Amino acid sequence: MSKVKITDTTLRDAHQSLIATRLETDDMLEIVGEMDKVGFHSFEMWGGATFDTAIRYLNEDPWNRITKLKEIAPKTPFQMLLRGQNLVGYKHYPDDIVYKFVEASYNRGIDIFRIFDALNDIRNMEVPIKAIKKYGGHAQGALSYTISPVHTIDYYIKAAEEMVALEIDSICIKDMAGLINPMDAYNLVKSLKDNFDLPVCLHSHCTSGMAPTSYFKAIEAGVDVIDTAIGPFSFGTSQPGVETMYAMLENTEYKSDIDIERVYKIANYFKKLKEKYKGLLSEAAVTTNTQILHFQIPGGMMSNLVSQLRDQNAEDRLDEILLEVPKVRKELGYPPLVTPLSQIVGAQATLNVLTGQRYKLIPSEVKNYVKGLYGKPAAPIDKNIEKLIIGDEKVSYEKSPELKNPTYQKFKDEVKDKIKKEEDVITYALFPDIALTYFENRGKTIQKPKPEKHHKVEKTKPVEESQHFHVKQPAQSNGGTSLRSPLPGAVLKIIGEVGKPVKKDSVLFVISAMKMENEIVSPASGILQKVFVKEGDVVQTGDVLATIA
Ligand code: CO
Repeated sequence: MSKVKITDTTLRDAHQSLIATRLETDDMLEIVGEMDKVGFHSFEMWGGATFDTAIRYLNEDPWNRITKLKEIAPKTPFQMLLRGQNLVGYKHYPDDIVYKFVEASYNRGIDIFRIFDALNDIRNMEVPIKAIKKYGGHAQGALSYTISPVHTIDYYIKAAEEMVALEIDSICIKDMAGLINPMDAYNLVKSLKDNFDLPVCLHSHCTSGMAPTSYFKAIEAGVDVIDTAIGPFSFGTSQPGVETMYAMLENTEYKSDIDIERVYKIANYFKKLKEKYKGLLSEAAVTTNTQILHFQIPGGMMSNLVSQLRDQNAEDRLDEILLEVPKVRKELGYPPLVTPLSQIVGAQATLNVLTGQRYKLIPSEVKNYVKGLYGKPAAPIDKNIEKLIIGDEKVSYEKSPELKNPTYQKFKDEVKDKIKKEEDVITYALFPDIALTYFENRGKTIQKPKPEKHHKVEKTKPVEESQHFHVKQPAQSNGGTSLRSPLPGAVLKIIGEVGKPVKKDSVLFVISAMKMENEIVSPASGILQKVFVKEGDVVQTGDVLATIA
């Protein structure tokens, strides 16, 4: 039995959970020197959405943030969150970019790399772990925690074994939705401690209200590190408060060594800071959400579903969709409901309900998931559903051999006139479009876009307000078959030419809705007679897109 160590997440997960990752480096610099004296095990201060947000919204260099913080806080180890082969982005990046990214992060001052894969497909973590070991960082392998009949203790032990074979330095239970209950936390930590001779860390969120109690039981089971945030930036959808956990452990043998008096002073600073950012704080972010316990749908996904249904004018169908989500999740092999999988399952469930026919409309992201592009699910995908989704197309969970091809020089050649330092090439390789805008605006004072209150931050381009208009409807039937839009959304692509023959079930339109790309197929074979929309148009359910003669 020993004292528990405490990681502080205030500079990464806490503001990602509560204020859409908008905390600026200058606001951190004023306090991080004091935070460095507390005695935290580590600062989780980089990675996740911080990279994207820095260049997209804050006009800040994400790399400089590490250096600036390190100058003022040299003592406490710096920790980052890495999404396996996706690094800090939303797709698989080539192996050489993974190496370059890890090397640069390590050289800037990241000590501990927490790596995870949303599907616990450990192969997606292999290259990043090798890179971390090569440059000398601490590789922490994280298990994405979720609840399902296949996510048993044996399942997690097996996944951990695979990570341990890659020579990780510690294990993290990453409960991103706040689903772990106290006894499950106890049993999982105990099994991990019994099976492996490695430090174990528990990361959870207060979303459902259980996290502090689950931490307590995890500590009783021998967990080495818990993730907390400083008072004003704790609870809600964030981590438990460091002060709360400290007080809970006060009369126990696990009592932490941190300088709690200093934490109280630091909390005053964050209290004022929270006031500054309060426009970004949504009611959902600060309220305990017990629906998670009822539907096992994470808070972020629930608010996403509600706002999507509002866009679809179908808020009254929420209850049906909440019942459909677990069915779709089961059929798709129980993916953990975290980004992007929560979006994939949520969109499919919504379409199943709104179209009145299950798997009638299938977004390309769902097809790609079933084809294996996101990795291997924990349980096999239902064979009949697989057939409905991809027909006779092949499923492959093999890593794309293309990822092995060197790409760095190509990226460098593309931006050599725009870069100021070598790391800019990595920034560009990760987010080509927004990196270019950022390079242009760098150093200038720009109007920072304020995200709308009570809304999730859009990852995809929002549809411009001016594009909202009703598509002209054909005055009369001209003998052809009408193809009507099965859902509201924006016309992303028009495939096929007027006057040319089309086959039944061939793709004619791609409509973007719910951040997914939905292929709209021809209802009949014939000639594409007329197209009533153009790319960028916003359509409503029932709008005629085209006629086929
Ligand atoms: Co988290």
